[in-house]
Amino acid sequence: MTFIGTGYLGATYAICYAELGYEVIGFDVDVDKIEKLGKGEVPFHEPGLDEMLRRNLAAGRLRFTTSYQETADFGDVHFICVGTPQRASGLGADLTYVEASVSNLAQHLSRKALIVGKSTVPVGTAEWVEQLVAKHARPELAVEVAWSPEFLQEGFAVDDVMRPNRIVVATKTEWSNSLLHAAHKGVFDLAATEDREVPVVSTDFATAELVKVAANSFLATKISFINAMAEVCEVAGGDITQLARALGYDPRIGNRFLQSGVGFGGGCLPKDIRAFQARAQELGAGEALRFLHEVDLINLRRRQRVLNLAAGLLGRKFGPAGPDLSGARIAVLGATFKPNSDDVRDAPALAVAGMLSRAGASVHVYDPQGMENAKRALPEVEYAKSMVEAVTDADLVCVLTEWAEFRNADPVALGEVAANKLIVDGRNCLDATAWKSAGWTLRALGRPTV
Ligand code: UDX
Repeated sequence: MTFIGTGYLGATYAICYAELGYEVIGFDVDVDKIEKLGKGEVPFHEPGLDEMLRRNLAAGRLRFTTSYQETADFGDVHFICVGTPQRASGLGADLTYVEASVSNLAQHLSRKALIVGKSTVPVGTAEWVEQLVAKHARPELAVEVAWSPEFLQEGFAVDDVMRPNRIVVATKTEWSNSLLHAAHKGVFDLAATEDREVPVVSTDFATAELVKVAANSFLATKISFINAMAEVCEVAGGDITQLARALGYDPRIGNRFLQSGVGFGGGCLPKDIRAFQARAQELGAGEALRFLHEVDLINLRRRQRVLNLAAGLLGRKFGPAGPDLSGARIAVLGATFKPNSDDVRDAPALAVAGMLSRAGASVHVYDPQGMENAKRALPEVEYAKSMVEAVTDADLVCVLTEWAEFRNADPVALGEVAANKLIVDGRNCLDATAWKSAGWTLRALGRPTV
């Protein structure tokens, strides 16, 4: 089998499926990425993946290429894993990479094959992919299309691929259905050895495409719901962490994705809820998803709230353009959109660092894994080599990604190097009592002052 597009999704799948015992090729047009992967280097941070890559390269089950011909000749099943970023203009998804990869692959096929979409796409894309295949593949090959979305989370990607909590498949013929089942056999076999079952939902193209964006919309809504409650707690004097805990005990609600803080980011949730709205609008169902606009707004307001908390703690005045932080030195701890990742795409931490800097502060960012990506995405701030270096001489510290290194930081030691013992806990991840006893003034989102 082949995985077309070796970004986060495709590389992880290619490596994990080789680990499951399949013969795999990973394809990408990016020569640099392919060279790295071929040498055993994963171009992003994902626990457990490096070793697995090297093991499977050595075993000869996995290789990487930039050749469509080699890819087409090798596989019977081709998974399309290319990116579908937000369009430069507007909220919708940019399908340029899907179009290029499907058309090129189809042109190079010389035997019947199955092209399976995995990328997150607007509903209706699978039918369009079928038309692309019909246009570019030789008709006598009767190449088929199927859809099977993925649900992997960064930081847990290996487990999410090898041990998915469900598999969704949309196929149109018995041939494609049995081929796709065979392509998942490794996952079913692993589950059987661990006495688990992987539920399979077999459905139509539209439903398969919608499952993915519906799932991400639900998760984003859950986070914005708790962050909206945090806004109310802030004016009413409530404590969002206790409120969330009490809500989470109700099994109908559940305690996951109820962590209030500076909000969601990353390469999926923000762009998916926007693309979903744009697609619903095109289909005439815009009203049904109007709430997702509100989910987005609540999420973005949390970033502004950190800026305002910072200004309040520093006793700064608010002008018409927002607070003036000139002359203040601020340590921002965290740059990635969540811990155990080096991904800074749409990261709330980095967005806030930019806002603080634009308000005039001298911003010193530190992140355990995301420094390289952060420097490229936000070159206008300073980067420290360690947490202590970032905090040294800081007038204020903002913790914006809940890395264990920050959660377990020693407030006494940091208090000795900081200029002021002022801290904003943007993820509700710090032990407020410990920081308070070390003499810090801590403000957390959605909680009373401590
Ligand atoms: C998400 C989906 O979870 C995954 O199923 C899908 O395949 C891709 O998108 P991922 O982007 O890796 O995965 O991140 P996720 O763990 O969902 O977190 C998204 C954002 O929400 C992060 O910025 C995180 O900090 C934030 N978040 C998450 C909260 O603010 N509170 C929570 O309670 C949970």
